[in-house]
Amino acid sequence: MFDVALFNADKTEIRYIDIISRRLSIPVTKDVGQFTWILKFKKGVLALVEVKHPQRKPLCIDLLRLQRRFGSHPISRREPLARALGRKTKSVIDATAGWGRDMMLIWMMGYDVYAVERSKVMAALLMDGLRRYRRYDNSGDRLSFTVCDAQSYLLDHAADCVYLDPMFPPKRKETALAKRSIRVMRQLVGDDSDRDLLFECAWEAARKRVVTKRPNHAQPWGAPDHTFGGKLMSYDVYLKH
Ligand SMILES: C[S@@+](CC[C@H](N)C(=O)[O-])C[C@H]1O[C@@H](n2cnc3c(N)ncnc32)[C@H](O)[C@@H]1O
Repeated sequence: MFDVALFNADKTEIRYIDIISRRLSIPVTKDVGQFTWILKFKKGVLALVEVKHPQRKPLCIDLLRLQRRFGSHPISRREPLARALGRKTKSVIDATAGWGRDMMLIWMMGYDVYAVERSKVMAALLMDGLRRYRRYDNSGDRLSFTVCDAQSYLLDHAADCVYLDPMFPPKRKETALAKRSIRVMRQLVGDDSDRDLLFECAWEAARKRVVTKRPNHAQPWGAPDHTFGGKLMSYDVYLKH
């Protein structure tokens, strides 16, 4: 059984559904019953629906809403994330784009951002989020997105900084209290158990530094040069001396 399919509910988006289906090799179906997840358009927005729990809120990526939530544009470079990325950094590869939250924050701080994501479900949502965002704001020239495994992307791309935010196993068994977007992502992508390899590729590709985000219960990669810690998570900085 293939776990996710595109459901063609919105006739106006037929062409776009066809493009996503071919680009990401996600089948289009009329029979949703045999899938766990369905990607479908609702009012022009691509959303992820749990087939067995249609009452649960569909998940989508709304970059405009994120931008409004983060507030002013550009964001202060005194934020812990900006301090970790560094003043002299101009370009950042966000190798683990996920829901696009950090990608958007980093871009709003004024960096050039090259985002990468390998999960086709996350990629489909992010492509749609970017497509809608660019209709509203065409200043997104400094922001690009590639669907592939970042380990291969980093072989022939470089940037001042490579930013990594892979999934880590939860501290305890995940409870219903964990944020739904995190629980769903864990179901979709697992625990990114190849994150050590990703770090090695990031180290090769970074001109100045690698920045990682990890929950405080997880170990850093070796000895970071700086750590900007928060209550639940930390940014570790590894400088290329
Ligand atoms: C914790 S989430 C990232 C959340 C993201 N920083 C945000 O702000 O929404 C981890 C994401 O990294 C992606 N990922 C992990 N390893 C990857 C790799 N080698 N190449 C591309 N994407 C990867 C996973 O598919 C997942 O979507």
